[in-house]
Amino acid sequence: MICYNRLAREWLREQGECLDATEAQEEAKLPERNVSDRERALIAKARQFMPGGSLGNLFGGVVISEGYRGRVKDVSGNEYVDFLLGSGPMLIGHAHPEVVDAVREQIERGTTFFADNENAIRLAEETVEAVPCADKVRFCSTGSEATLYAMRTARAFRKRDKILKFEGGFHGMNDYALMSMAPAHPQDFPHPTPDSPGIPKSVQSEMLIAPFNDIETTSAIIDRYHNELAGVIVEPFQRLLPPKPGFLEGLRQITEMYEIPLIFDEVVTGFRFSYGGAQEYYGVTPDLCTLGKAIAGGFPLTALVGRDELMDHFDPVASESESFLPQIGTLSGNPVAAAAGLATLRVLRREGTYERLFEVGRQLKDTLQRLLDEAEIPAQVIGEAPLFDVFFTEGEISDYRSTLQADRALASRFTALLLDRGVLRGSTKFYISTAHDAADIEHTVQAFASAIDALKG
Ligand SMILES: Cc1ncc(COP(=O)(O)O)c(C=O)c1O
Repeated sequence: MICYNRLAREWLREQGECLDATEAQEEAKLPERNVSDRERALIAKARQFMPGGSLGNLFGGVVISEGYRGRVKDVSGNEYVDFLLGSGPMLIGHAHPEVVDAVREQIERGTTFFADNENAIRLAEETVEAVPCADKVRFCSTGSEATLYAMRTARAFRKRDKILKFEGGFHGMNDYALMSMAPAHPQDFPHPTPDSPGIPKSVQSEMLIAPFNDIETTSAIIDRYHNELAGVIVEPFQRLLPPKPGFLEGLRQITEMYEIPLIFDEVVTGFRFSYGGAQEYYGVTPDLCTLGKAIAGGFPLTALVGRDELMDHFDPVASESESFLPQIGTLSGNPVAAAAGLATLRVLRREGTYERLFEVGRQLKDTLQRLLDEAEIPAQVIGEAPLFDVFFTEGEISDYRSTLQADRALASRFTALLLDRGVLRGSTKFYISTAHDAADIEHTVQAFASAIDALKG
């Protein structure tokens, strides 16, 4: 079926990348989307040659063949308004002509050099101009790699080992990140629960876990452990949870007081909530920040950025020899990915881009809430305009534990009903694109109305 095991189910549900469509369709005996013989054969081949029959991201049995602007098509020819957006990178839409041209131009002149290249240098410059905390930039290829280096940099700087992260916070797949990301049985704070087998026990003892949006408990943990703490890592907008007023400010204040580096993981929010990311949007500047997804317009490039004092650890000249941090990656700063990133940022900088993105998101978010209210289904649409979702509960949602009260079966059914009506997303999260147009909005609103009708029935 779609989610093959409990862990994958739990993680991916929280990450928002698990399509529960087929499972829910079977349970609800809904009509299935039209699946061609070709797509069926590909799904069978995937099951034969790939564990779980998938790339590991989506266990949905939907094979996508192409994407243009705000829509994608599957191999069977079904078209969907796309709110998955490749899990976020396609902020300006699929196959944007300016990205395609920039990539084509670079590909014809070579695809990777390992050596410094002009596109990467220019992307570093533009990133420093955009992101408040960025004095310098180091490129990596994945978000998991960027957060790993962020935590290592904090350790090198502080000469201490422990990192505090938040329960339910997602920082990729490295060993340190996979602590209390989606614990089935959360422990007392600050004790971590590993999210995967295969992580050395020693890693567990170097991580502290705090509740998102609870500055009192978090401050108490930092007060107690400040002498052992190397850094604090947080998604400023945790999955779908906006920070409560004062939470990020409080975190900034206490980390500054103890001179503990504060890391914002902006792999999702960077260039999305505003051109300067969530740190600009919420007005709190960290010491280090990770960027991914939108920065490379659909190519494998991410970045660790931060203040000179911390980033100097990567500089063999500026750093004392024993605190020098080696960072080598075959594809780091890849010129094709950097070309896509430069083109994407150029589009995002155009006047009115963010106003339009927020207007489309607000319209869909508000309409979804209104339709649910009219149907008298207890539900809340939570998040910010460019990234939101519905939680089927009336209780307050402000941290990981409170998200567990929501009716997940109903959410899965909603996702399945939408898929059947030509709207694609993960089992959580609606990612909005600047390419979503009036026709996409109209189609989606109709799908919302019809799916909510079916949910009631
Ligand atoms: C906040 C956050 N950090 C890190 C990552 C990991 O990025 P990647 O999938 O490129 O390793 C993700 C991925 O979705 C993410 O959402």
